[in-house]
Amino acid sequence: MDTNGKQFKKFLEREDKKNKQYGIDNEKKQHSKGKLSAFERIELLFDKDTFEEIDAFVTPATVTTSFGKTTESFGDGVIVGYGKVAGRLVFAYAQDFTVMGGSLGTVHAQKISKIQQMALKMGAPIVGLIDSGGARIQEGIASLAGYATIFNNNIMSSGVIPQISVIMGPAAGGAVYSPALTDFIFMTNKTSYMFVTGPNVVKEVLNEEVTNDELGGAEIHTKKSGVAHMMYEDEEHTIQGVRKLLNYVPSNNIENPPVFINPNETPDWNEKLRDVVPDDPNKPYDVKDVIYLLADKDSFFEISENYAQNLVIGFARLKGQTIGIVANQPKVLAGTIDINSSIKGARFIRFCDSFNIPLLTLEDVPGFLPGVDQEHMGIIRNGAKMLYAYTEATVPKITVILRKSYGGAYIVMNSKNIGGDFNFAWPTAEIAVMGPDGAVAVLYRRELEAAEDPDTLKKELVKTYRDQIANPYIADEKGYIDEVIDPAVTRKKLITAFEALQNKHVNRPSKKHGNIPL
Ligand code: HXC
Repeated sequence: MDTNGKQFKKFLEREDKKNKQYGIDNEKKQHSKGKLSAFERIELLFDKDTFEEIDAFVTPATVTTSFGKTTESFGDGVIVGYGKVAGRLVFAYAQDFTVMGGSLGTVHAQKISKIQQMALKMGAPIVGLIDSGGARIQEGIASLAGYATIFNNNIMSSGVIPQISVIMGPAAGGAVYSPALTDFIFMTNKTSYMFVTGPNVVKEVLNEEVTNDELGGAEIHTKKSGVAHMMYEDEEHTIQGVRKLLNYVPSNNIENPPVFINPNETPDWNEKLRDVVPDDPNKPYDVKDVIYLLADKDSFFEISENYAQNLVIGFARLKGQTIGIVANQPKVLAGTIDINSSIKGARFIRFCDSFNIPLLTLEDVPGFLPGVDQEHMGIIRNGAKMLYAYTEATVPKITVILRKSYGGAYIVMNSKNIGGDFNFAWPTAEIAVMGPDGAVAVLYRRELEAAEDPDTLKKELVKTYRDQIANPYIADEKGYIDEVIDPAVTRKKLITAFEALQNKHVNRPSKKHGNIPL
């Protein structure tokens, strides 16, 4: 090839122009806002020198009206391509805020759509690095149609390939709904925010003053709204978090998750497990202490750590195999199930079921959270979400009842009759229709009213109820659980049981789709 020829010179010229566009000025603009450039983010996401960009030279659509114009640029404000994360194929796009605020016009949308469709065809995860002012105003309806195509792709890919959204600046207007349709949303504290309408519109319509952060910052979405799952203090850690998550999940719904054996083996027999649950049944403890003793060393990756903390969810490994853990947290709201925790659990269970990730449930739940608020906000419909998700799931499902397992909550947390494959219980388990206080109040109301010393009578009745009813042995003897086990052998039991379930196959009645109570 003649490298002094006209065509080769043009090739070099274009490369030069593109490199200048993404050069030092672009980085400076982003750094001045405490953010990284789109390319820096891509480099952090992928293994060194594995990223391949496509469509780098497409140019923005020309605007024919006089209201605003599009800025000349290569790539139309988004970098798209593929590369390797821990050696596995991953597709990605990264919006460039320095080009028209990362706004989404026709060509920008076509690029994202193309990479989404490639990821789906190749059966590989897709990561969206989002930094965008939403639909590009000057391109009008074409921008809205572009978003519609992206949403359509998100929905077609849902349950087929893992989709992860990383918010690294504004995600305003249409920019929020693609993330909302993906499996996990990561945010960086202070520099990222998500809202359907920004502070200006809020001021105009409602006359309320609110900052970006107060309206839709990372803290709000990971603690209050539950829209986002993960928050990190800077972009490097945010992207490292994404890389970590990808190590737990398979590339698509027909593969199994990757196996990572930790040479520092967790002991299969561990006496410490006998001491986690306190002797006093009303004393709280941290269910994460149980998880750390059961899972492979350092393998627990908690999801939505700061939202609905009465339910703990996350990925972990057992002898290298990924599992999804759903655990009631006795230290928050006594581990009761409320609306938010049911929604949090249901979504996680459905993700695990979509991607062949076996489920471990650690149960200590006194019941659904009572109260006017919960009832009026729809605990009936919302509580049914987790029940539906557990029952619908066909992946291997094991429950260990650590302590309380009362009423509807017993049923919901993967009981045998909704399809739990194995239910184990520790000797500390209390399995019954309701807790001792409630049971005594219902059955012995008149006796207590007539008693000279109702407190002493109540204590006696509670003791009788605990001894005779609220223990694991009746359920064991009637076959409602499979075995009462010594806590010390739990990890070994789980490894053996999950191994036995690895070729589990379930046939379901044919249907278009179920109607989960949304
Ligand atoms: C075109 C946009 C834009 C947009 C920002 N820009 N948003 N251009 N369309 N939607 C441009 C700005 O004109 C500016 O260009 C550059 O990006 C940087 O924006 P700034 O405002 O200077 O940055 P900043 O102060 O950081 O504020 C960022 C922002 C703000 C909060 C995102 O720009 C903003 O509020 N944008 C509009 C957000 C919005 O309401 N989007 C909804 C669109 S409707 P110059 O040339 O000056 O550098 C929508 C509906 C879809 O998305 C619904 C689907 C369900």
